[in-house]
Amino acid sequence: MSFSGLSPADPQYVRDLGDGLRLRWSRAEDAEELARLECEVFLNRPTEPLNQPLAWHVRELLSDSHPLMGSGDFALVEDRRGGGNRVVACACLWRQFWDYEDVRLLVGRPELVISDPDYRHRGLIRALFGLLHARSEAEGALVQAITGIPYFYRQFGYEYALELDGYLTLPVALIPPAPDDGREPVRLRDATLEDLPAIMALYEARRQQGELAVSTPISEKWWRYQLTHWQDCRTGEHWHVQVMDSEREDFLGFLVMPTMRWRSAVPVMHCFEVVPGVDLFWLLPPVLRAILARGRQMPVRREPAEIDHLRFYLSTEHPIRAALLRLPNRYGEPLAVRSSRPYAWYVRVPDLAVFLRRVAPVLEHRLARSPLAGYSGKLSLHFYGRELLLHFQAGQLERVQELKPAFDYEQADAAFPPQAFLPLLFGYRSLDELSYAFPDIEVKPTAEMLLQTLFPKRPSWATPLG
Ligand SMILES: CC(C)(COP(=O)(O)OP(=O)(O)OC[C@H]1O[C@@H](n2cnc3c(N)ncnc32)[C@H](O)[C@@H]1OP(=O)(O)O)[C@@H](O)C(=O)NCCC(=O)NCCS
Repeated sequence: MSFSGLSPADPQYVRDLGDGLRLRWSRAEDAEELARLECEVFLNRPTEPLNQPLAWHVRELLSDSHPLMGSGDFALVEDRRGGGNRVVACACLWRQFWDYEDVRLLVGRPELVISDPDYRHRGLIRALFGLLHARSEAEGALVQAITGIPYFYRQFGYEYALELDGYLTLPVALIPPAPDDGREPVRLRDATLEDLPAIMALYEARRQQGELAVSTPISEKWWRYQLTHWQDCRTGEHWHVQVMDSEREDFLGFLVMPTMRWRSAVPVMHCFEVVPGVDLFWLLPPVLRAILARGRQMPVRREPAEIDHLRFYLSTEHPIRAALLRLPNRYGEPLAVRSSRPYAWYVRVPDLAVFLRRVAPVLEHRLARSPLAGYSGKLSLHFYGRELLLHFQAGQLERVQELKPAFDYEQADAAFPPQAFLPLLFGYRSLDELSYAFPDIEVKPTAEMLLQTLFPKRPSWATPLG
């Protein structure tokens, strides 16, 4: 194997993997090969037609106009035998931000991970992740996160650590009928750039409610991109932002739908935000009818089937979720809305010491509002091979010190299998829940209160962009 001597984060980095395979970063001219691989292989069943919307998505991602990545951000493996450059595995790197309470974090998001069936189980994806992680870390991202297939990414240092994509299913037969005169009190219309200030203000207001551990700040650039591009619906990936209004009110809120529906489902995802002071039981029936009407106009992503349900992807704490579960039917009983268990984000934190230093203001704020306000002392956290010592002085996290590698956990205040710490760090699980699930989590009784104060279980709203 030969190495080019450059950092794996470098656009010019090339590595020979043997057998004619070469690992490198993409260029704009790779768009068609990448689109071919993704649309041929990303299928639910090998007999399905090619995934053309995904091919368009790949072309758009490589067009240098997408807010999350540029044309050089696919890591790929090509097979050069016979003089060709057939791409046989690839994955790309997106960037977005998360707010850890009020500390903003750049997050690197590996996406569109795929390998040709004839090249699997040869470590190609592992090699690609080496590149994605190197670039993401070189850019200063302290976190990488994936919305991916079950289990697989654990092998690359990821752990499930934030709620993602729980949904409610509402059969269309349950949608309350329209009024006899046909006059709907609330309507849906396509959002325009004039709606942007109201949309952004409402989104921000919701983010500030509920003491979220992690939430997604959304830039004006992202909203503008979606508002001006959603009609290029060949990809099915854009956000179709729609405003709710009535005869008296121009803006009652907004919701987001994709630009294509899926088989028999009409999805609403990411946002369903209503201005304060509106009775949701008054608003929802006409909006449900309007969503169904939109769904009937939408192209179908793959395998068309008659629409039989609406699907709402809303976080567990979302007020619309609670209202939908209690919306009365014509007999005054709750509609039979079915709720699915949420999935979760995979999260990787390559350097916990750096991460903890970065979020120190949040940890200090939590301490200040607790019975441990003004705390001075040390907290040693052992990760079975690695140990961190946190020094607190008068409620400030003065230092996070990396100790020599050690496996002797008994002297530490608390010990965690390394990845099992991440659900605690992101407020996804409480210390009690994790201790119950992992017998190798050891916490000294004297450290329990401090750990629970620093890392409380909290809801999050980590909307995936893209
Ligand atoms: C999932 C997928 C990307 C794996 O590709 P691959 O080329 O086999 O990956 P690698 O060879 O680099 O495998 C890395 C490790 O995962 C293991 N592995 C491979 N496929 C796996 C799977 N489906 N589940 C669990 N582990 C798997 C490998 O054995 C290897 O382990 P090792 O390094 O200890 O030997 C490939 O099966 C694929 O393209 N599937 C269809 C598209 C897809 O689902 N993509 C993911 C979307 S989030």
